[in-house]
Amino acid sequence: MNVEDMKKAVAKEALRYIEDDMVIGLGTGSTTAYFIQFLSEKIQKGELEEIYGVPTSYQAKILAMEYGVPVVSLDQVDAIDVAVDGADEVDPNLNLIKGRGAALTMEKIIEYRAGTFIVLVDETKLVDYLCQKMPVPIEVIPAAWKAILEELSIFNAEAELRMGKKKDGPVVTENGNFIIDAKFQRIEDPLDMEIELNTIPGVVENGIFADIADIVLVGTKEGVKKME
Ligand code: 5RP
Repeated sequence: MNVEDMKKAVAKEALRYIEDDMVIGLGTGSTTAYFIQFLSEKIQKGELEEIYGVPTSYQAKILAMEYGVPVVSLDQVDAIDVAVDGADEVDPNLNLIKGRGAALTMEKIIEYRAGTFIVLVDETKLVDYLCQKMPVPIEVIPAAWKAILEELSIFNAEAELRMGKKKDGPVVTENGNFIIDAKFQRIEDPLDMEIELNTIPGVVENGIFADIADIVLVGTKEGVKKME
């Protein structure tokens, strides 16, 4: 099984948690894209009814629209039953780093509110501690980016402004902000760090998702494993 097959396997497995009449938070990224596709196939076959998706990004919204999954915005629903999304790192306590797709703020708003938040990863995303491999993406108000870079040096972080693929300008989020990627040595206490980063003036949100995930479905060579 290659990584792509693992992503498909966890996306299929996540469908077992979806029932009629559910409002589903739709995450962003390549793994969730498979979930949206498979969800749509079940809806088209009439195996699921009255499903509404709340997208976490334009990417998720457009995919859902293309596949015919009805979409609504967060302010049109009273509750989110289940949210499904990928992650960049998962530690043994189900703390996450998210945000390679720069959609972390809306993802956190929606996933925090979900009755059940299901995370879909392949086994390469499992780490012993957060920041083992990946930096923490931090969404910042554009005018504050340089001040926040300086602030992050207090944490001994190697931090940089995320640039677009052509390197001719910074990545701009759907909220009109910039992203700083901050590589810390090792995050000992994810919840503490998540809260502390958000106290820096100009920080909108950061990509540490501590104590939010309920279930992590991990694609491995031996099949899908469940962490909870
Ligand atoms: C986007 C995210 C993604 O969920 C995360 O980057 C994982 O993406 P993929 O499934 O493509 O590996 O946090 O902001």
